[in-house]
Amino acid sequence: MNVQIVYFSGTGNTKTIALGYERVLNRLGHNVLVSSIEDCVELGTHDVLIIGGPIYAGNMPDELITWVRKHIVEVKDHQKAIVFSTSAGLLNANGVKSIGKKLAKKGYSIVDTPTFEMPRNFYIDKYDPTPEDMQKLQFEKASEVILESIKNIDLNKDLVINESVIMIDILADVFRIMAKSMGKSFAIDDTCIRCGKCEKNCPKQNINFKDKKYDNKCILCTRCIHNCPVNAISYKNKKIQQYHVHHTLVTE
Ligand SMILES: Cc1cc2nc3c(=O)[nH]c(=O)nc-3n(C[C@H](O)[C@H](O)[C@H](O)COP(=O)(O)O)c2cc1C
Repeated sequence: MNVQIVYFSGTGNTKTIALGYERVLNRLGHNVLVSSIEDCVELGTHDVLIIGGPIYAGNMPDELITWVRKHIVEVKDHQKAIVFSTSAGLLNANGVKSIGKKLAKKGYSIVDTPTFEMPRNFYIDKYDPTPEDMQKLQFEKASEVILESIKNIDLNKDLVINESVIMIDILADVFRIMAKSMGKSFAIDDTCIRCGKCEKNCPKQNINFKDKKYDNKCILCTRCIHNCPVNAISYKNKKIQQYHVHHTLVTE
């Protein structure tokens, strides 16, 4: 079977799950192509499509929704699809429904829509980072969910998403506008070593590290904060404790 996995990941949780699916599917003898939406402009021929993203304010990021709208064409053979999200376990289930419904409209049979509870990466303004012991448990549980999810590919499932997703898509749109405004509160301070990693890694090309400036295209993915080698990026003049994926899935 040819499986194509496409994801958006701000800080690595969703990428970790995407690679977990890849590993298990490879072990089962399938051909798997995995890529981030930042690198994937066109889908290849596939029997199964897996799409994953984080939850931002109750839905997938507008960035991923727009990618799905633009790049996924109608399919004729009821190809199977899994839509998964990673979230901190708050408002989350609707994100998978929004993209699931869009794929179903394109002719896919949706076989699973799992949500993975992962460490929180969003505590710039409120909330606390996920405690270490909890993170470890989340990765163990995630491994089990991947194995269960893959079993659904062989079952003749076709999940029907009846609910309207208009309101949650509007919410993603509103959040995109909010993010642009909140993004103006990021700043690069004088501890910057001018490595340029923030500029190079930003999914929106929103950072000019030489001038220490953010443009107004921020999607609040927080990648710049958590990946700066010297933690030189602050939010509202506050340093944030950095999050890195450092647990491994049991599928490895
Ligand atoms: C801007 C933003 C908004 C978020 N909103 C939610 C939310 O509404 N519910 C939730 O459970 N987690 C929320 N989170 C947490 C992330 O969904 C979670 O940490 C996710 O696994 C991050 O994935 P990534 O590392 O692939 O970017 C939010 C994170 C960010 C950056």
